[in-house]
Amino acid sequence: MVARIPTVSFQGVDVRPIDVEVQISGGVVAFNIVGLPDKAVAESKERVRGALHALGLSLPAKRLTVNLAPADTPKEGSHYDLPIALGLLCAMDVIPAAEMAHYVTLGELSLSAHIRSVNGVLPAAMFAAEHDKGLICPEACGAEACWAGDIDILAPNDLLQVINHIKGTQVLSRPSAPEQAAFSSRHPDLAEVKGQETAKRALEITAAGGHNLLMSGPPGSGKSMLASCLPGILPPLSAREALDVSMIHSLAGTLPEGGLVRERPYRDPHHSASLPALIGGGAKPKPGEISLAHKGVLFLDELPEFDRRTLEALRQPLETAQALIARANQHVTYPADFQLIAAMNPCRCGHLGDTDLECTRAPKCAADYQAKISGPMLDRIDLHVDVPPVPVTKLSALPEGEPSASVRERVNAARHLQKQRYEEMGEDLHVNAQAGGKVLEQIAPLCSEARDMLDKATDALKLSARGYHRIIRVARTIADLEQAGDVIEQKHIAEALSYRRMRLQ
Ligand SMILES: Nc1ncnc2c1ncn2[C@@H]1O[C@H](COP(=O)(O)OP(=O)(O)O)[C@@H](O)[C@H]1O
Ligand SMILES: [Mg+2]
Repeated sequence: MVARIPTVSFQGVDVRPIDVEVQISGGVVAFNIVGLPDKAVAESKERVRGALHALGLSLPAKRLTVNLAPADTPKEGSHYDLPIALGLLCAMDVIPAAEMAHYVTLGELSLSAHIRSVNGVLPAAMFAAEHDKGLICPEACGAEACWAGDIDILAPNDLLQVINHIKGTQVLSRPSAPEQAAFSSRHPDLAEVKGQETAKRALEITAAGGHNLLMSGPPGSGKSMLASCLPGILPPLSAREALDVSMIHSLAGTLPEGGLVRERPYRDPHHSASLPALIGGGAKPKPGEISLAHKGVLFLDELPEFDRRTLEALRQPLETAQALIARANQHVTYPADFQLIAAMNPCRCGHLGDTDLECTRAPKCAADYQAKISGPMLDRIDLHVDVPPVPVTKLSALPEGEPSASVRERVNAARHLQKQRYEEMGEDLHVNAQAGGKVLEQIAPLCSEARDMLDKATDALKLSARGYHRIIRVARTIADLEQAGDVIEQKHIAEALSYRRMRLQ
């Protein structure tokens, strides 16, 4: 008899159905797992054997074959332990096989038959919900699974509990989703940043239009502080977005205890981060920082200090909002729709332009330093802003700034306008930053003075086609923040031009 236990494999955030087939037959005594298992899956048989032994059960001295079907999909991770163990128990007639077909099962076993938590329970639960199945997952992940909706969830602590539940001798109750605290931002409030009106304005435009922003200024001028204020002025995640973001964090194992990710992610990897850490992948496929920042903010401090290859690898995800990871036998994609906020010192010592402090190699050292970021990379950043330091003596005298909550209201209104516009056009876009040249022509007609000004600037600054579109895109967002109507006016273009890309000071 062949026992069949449904489980899943993960390809990026895609969930694929996998059947664990177990057969016990006569012949040479053996225990084989086939169907492209990786090392963790191949080692599963030792854990399964150990767990069954802990329950006082021993494997029959026969030929045991476990097939993970379809055989051509690579299987990675330790979550196949539980379905393999349950498959064996069905084949050994310890539990009824028919019952198991109603559940998607995943979990790792310890040698004492305890079921350890695994990554990816939320996407697996969503998959189960779509296919009208229940879910058997580790107790520690039960709360996470509840977010997938009203499905039958078994979250046993150990193997014996599942066996008893399936046999009807002990009933496991459905886990419940934990109460989550209301929206509480752990990010600093914009009111705490004194002065810096230009940088704050640029941050507001960035938030409103979903743009990317580069801040350049000497150390201590408040760049990191400004960047960490951005999540606080972005609109809250919608329910759908929260689920999408949580699925990625579930796969990475960074989901807050049993809860969903409710706040916009803010990731600030160090400049020594490796390419797999940032983009994703590595020996074990995992979402990288750019995917963990999905629907949120990726802050790259000291941008020129990042490894050149790592920075170049960011170009593609910035364009496609996806991280494509090539592996030996497959391609994996993770969503990576993030806003990039980058910060840099103008030169290595950071004091370019300050005659008292700058080094003797200025401005040559600044040219070298800034050249570390390639043109195509800079081209993908819509707003560039200088952040000069507020003198320390003035800091205490300056009044508090506008609080994040009121800036967020303007940002929300501008986002609403954009959403409506793109819905009416039938375009699958949400914010101006996503608008390409063709769409821009439709959504941002310039008045004649604005066109004049932009044409002159294009000649004088030798703007590329990309640079030209960037100005219009930012001008569109500035107009949306003002709720100014369809036509882009001269003042919008003038302000957008002030955020154009700058090299050296
Ligand atoms: N405009 C400002 N308003 C209030 N505090 C500031 C301001 N600029 C700098 N600071 C203070 O200086 C510290 C260092 O700023 P930081 O954002 O780390 O600078 P940077 O990233 O540019 O090197 C901040 O934590 C904050 O306490
Ligand atoms: Mg800093």
